Amino acid sequence: MPTINVAIDGPAGAGKSSISKAVAEKKGYIYIDTGAMYRAAALYAIEKSIPITADALKNHHDKIDINIENIDGEQHIFLCGRDVSARIREADISIGASDIAVIPDVRIKLVEMQRELAKGKNVIMDGRDIGTYVLPNANVKIFLTASVEERAKRRVAQMKEKGLEADIESVKQDIIYRDKNDSSRSFAPLKQADDAVLLDTTELDFEQVVGEVLDLIKKAEK
Ligand code: DC
Repeated sequence: MPTINVAIDGPAGAGKSSISKAVAEKKGYIYIDTGAMYRAAALYAIEKSIPITADALKNHHDKIDINIENIDGEQHIFLCGRDVSARIREADISIGASDIAVIPDVRIKLVEMQRELAKGKNVIMDGRDIGTYVLPNANVKIFLTASVEERAKRRVAQMKEKGLEADIESVKQDIIYRDKNDSSRSFAPLKQADDAVLLDTTELDFEQVVGEVLDLIKKAEK
């Protein structure tokens, strides 16, 4: 069977990571959450009180040491040797991640890591530019979306489950800001690849979406 790369892109809160994780588990594929890398880079700047601009960060690229490890089937992300997997999910990180993702030097460094992680392996990688830029030859490309209201609702439920504070209106504003920021940057913006399948999950439940993704992979395996 050929090596399968699955690219899942879409706006914030579309369910990319939970769907990708479930599909990866069912298929025995490696799940790579690229958003976590931008989040870890943002955490570096936030903790060091460095403004998130290309200029302020230009001498820091080598020091932003990000590593990914798979521990008991879960992706863990390390920033300068420290496991920051839980910290990067907190509400103060997401806007910073979207802002740092605009800076070309940051993207170039992280994209190189992402391509290396996918090389020769069965992976499901989620992000914003996977099908268009990181893995343009991916065997399966999916653009996952849902209405902004539905995405905000799901994100709040997810945060509450993790015991994190969440206010629906501020989550919605965060999503609107990030969607605009992520899709309007000039380098590798959020965009549906021409050969990606559009999956609008507003009216679908979790298992239906997982089923659709598994069907697309099955076709690619033939
Ligand atoms: O998927 P996420 O919400 O954890 O991503 C956080 C931010 O990182 C997102 O708003 C934009 C950026 N990002 C990106 O630009 N490219 C990716 N491949 C993944 C994330």
